[in-house]
Amino acid sequence: MSASITAVVLAAGKGTRMKSTLPKVLHKVCGRPILEHILNMLDAAGVGRIIVVAGHGADEVSALCSGRAEIALQTEQLGTGHAVMMAAPLLQGSGGTTLVLPGDTPLLRSETIDRLCQLRLEAGAGLTLLSAELDDPGSYGRIVRGDGGEVKAIVETKDADPEERKIKEINAAVYAFDTSLLLNCLGRIGCNNAQGEYYLTDVVSILSEEDRVEALITDDPDEVMGINDRLYLSQAGKIMRSRILEAWMLEGITIIDPDSTFIDDSAGIGQDTVIHPFSIIQGETFIGEGCSIGPGAHLTNARLGKGVSVQNSVVQDSELDDGVNIGPYAYIRPGSRLAEGARAGSFVEIKNSEIGPGSAVPHLSYIGDSSLGANVNIGAGTITCNYDGREKNHTVIGDEAFIGSNTKLIAPVTVGEGAVTGAGAVVNKDVPPWKVAVGMPARVIKTRDWGKGNDAG
Ligand code: UD1
Ligand code: CA
Repeated sequence: MSASITAVVLAAGKGTRMKSTLPKVLHKVCGRPILEHILNMLDAAGVGRIIVVAGHGADEVSALCSGRAEIALQTEQLGTGHAVMMAAPLLQGSGGTTLVLPGDTPLLRSETIDRLCQLRLEAGAGLTLLSAELDDPGSYGRIVRGDGGEVKAIVETKDADPEERKIKEINAAVYAFDTSLLLNCLGRIGCNNAQGEYYLTDVVSILSEEDRVEALITDDPDEVMGINDRLYLSQAGKIMRSRILEAWMLEGITIIDPDSTFIDDSAGIGQDTVIHPFSIIQGETFIGEGCSIGPGAHLTNARLGKGVSVQNSVVQDSELDDGVNIGPYAYIRPGSRLAEGARAGSFVEIKNSEIGPGSAVPHLSYIGDSSLGANVNIGAGTITCNYDGREKNHTVIGDEAFIGSNTKLIAPVTVGEGAVTGAGAVVNKDVPPWKVAVGMPARVIKTRDWGKGNDAG
């Protein structure tokens, strides 16, 4: 699509019907703010320049648009026509097509935008607008056509007479204008209507007198859904979710039960991964090939290598390398990394820790602020006592160490390579490599006489 298209996204409204302190366009659908979906869609359509009209929550809206769109401020929300007037100074002299669309329609497709802009050029029309035929036209503006079927006007539900209210063709509020015609019409919009607002829709009757207006009727009415309240928000979420799941299935991912699987728009998944029921994959989560996710996995900003298995567990802001096995019932908290082949089993919590390759924390343990080397075995019930009431302290456990069940490691503390702690040990001093320490507090009693390194002396 050509760069001579400028998009104006109307996003200044408060979204009163959302009953929220958050501006409407910043509410999330499948993990992304509604407005971000629109910006991504416009990028995909190859739109060269984007102007976002901001008002309510303008600072937050501008932050989201930073580097992606210019901002036109509408300090008072006097209607959609008024919102476009606020962008007019930025449109002066730009020529080409101006695409105007609402900031609350996250399901719009870039292909539809392409077709709408293309149709305007092909038909030589001053304006093409997107419409949809709905069994229940609800509170959408109605498209009024003349005897010859030509588009004559748009009437808002609140201004419509009973006959007009029966019209099933509705206005999606997505318009492709000849830029100079738009600029020329804007000043002629009045506010003599039920809401006392400057309606952009009034441009249609003005232009239909002087130029041609064509409607493109979408064959997918879902895509024009405007999020006006939280019911629409959940409906849009459902539709977008099934689009995301379908796309992944076509990419070679098995999703056992799409009805109980939630994957954010921002996630990535490798081929032959199987997603079991009741799994939630959020944020910037990237899953490698051949993984087994769920049942009951909740991953947020997680990076998984190949062949990772996560069952009935929560993983947040952490990395799981190839072949790692998690759960059931593990909680991997931010800042953790489990290296190749490591394992965290049932009722294990790991926070801000490095678990070396092949190491296992199989049952009932808390590992926080710790670095474990390779092939470490952590006995059931082991706790790193990382917090002394003032600060968080570090625990280091060397390669091949064997930590007995129910050991308490009072950080800061280091257990050397190959060292052993006896069951129930309370370790408040470093344990040298290949030594065996027992008791409370633990004391070294002998050199380890089994496993690798038993000749260490
Ligand atoms: C609008 C259309 C209606 C159409 C519907 C489709 C008008 C008058 N009506 O109605 O024909 O069927 O969209 O979804 O255009 N906004 C501003 N500044 C304002 C007012 C609104 O930026 O002063 C923004 C809002 O933030 C929103 C968008 O414009 O993103 C649409 O406004 P909204 O109030 O939702 O319009 P609708 O009543 O849905
Ligand atoms: Ca709306």
